[in-house]
Amino acid sequence: MKLNHVVESQQFTVPLLMELFERTKSMERTVRRGGTRDYEHAIMGTLFYRPSTRTRFSFESAMYRLGGRVLSTEHAMEFSSEVAGEKLEDTIRIIGHYCDVIVLRHHEEGGAKRAAAVSPVPVISAGDGTGGQHPTQALLDLYTIYRECHTLDGLSVALIGALDQGRTARSLAYLLGKFDRTKLYFIAPEEMQIKPDILEYLEKHGVSYELASDTRDIISHVDVVYQTRIDRERLASKDIDLTPYNIDRAVLEKMRSDAIIMHPLPRSVEIDHAVDDDTRAAYFRQTQNGLYVRMALLTMLLDNE
Ligand code: CP
Repeated sequence: MKLNHVVESQQFTVPLLMELFERTKSMERTVRRGGTRDYEHAIMGTLFYRPSTRTRFSFESAMYRLGGRVLSTEHAMEFSSEVAGEKLEDTIRIIGHYCDVIVLRHHEEGGAKRAAAVSPVPVISAGDGTGGQHPTQALLDLYTIYRECHTLDGLSVALIGALDQGRTARSLAYLLGKFDRTKLYFIAPEEMQIKPDILEYLEKHGVSYELASDTRDIISHVDVVYQTRIDRERLASKDIDLTPYNIDRAVLEKMRSDAIIMHPLPRSVEIDHAVDDDTRAAYFRQTQNGLYVRMALLTMLLDNE
């Protein structure tokens, strides 16, 4: 199955996801062997208009471990021709002549699709806008669930936090909705609940979901807790109690022994550091999987060239 660009989760079918995950497993072995030189001809350009730690480092590490090279601007708002008013489309056309694949984090929703429409080489979205998508994060999240739960069917998943602007939760909801008997719980303050476009997609595809306002009400019967940050500054009532959206040791005690806690990171106060040593805390293993999934994605795109 041919993959030209990675701009949104919806473009991945279940067979394509399984192909990606097979490659991802082989990338784990490649990294254990010390990497490969198979892609030494390849150059990846990374263009980040917004800050990143995990996504940029893991993509760059992925390319180096494949034997390739990297051209990078980590602060494109300041250190690209954006400052001279250059349009994204022009920048992409030009950078596309200097590299074989472009990884783009853009500040506007739809930026990755605009880039893909004009790019001479594959474009991978590293997240776009505030309420857009972050498809490669969702792919590594799904791979983590697959690795830890040993299935993607019949899972109950709680997505918690500022879900209206949560690019990662939005992208993951699309992916989880592709599997049989998925049940999603969206847990957020009312003004930050998941947007109707996701709910319409789930309804159209017959995926069961519930909107809720307290993690403690559902924690005992989910397989996966997907925690995200809540930016208190966005809340109209700043003194709202955020306890229902936090994970601490008391919440852990109510969780099933085989359930897992995930977070795309960075975190703020929503996961207590006392939770980190619990084997169910999967968020650091999740970041490690990001390397393998991004290596696999790069090879799928570069093998098409
Ligand atoms: N999860 C994630 O996208 O992290 P970064 O912003 O550090 O890339």
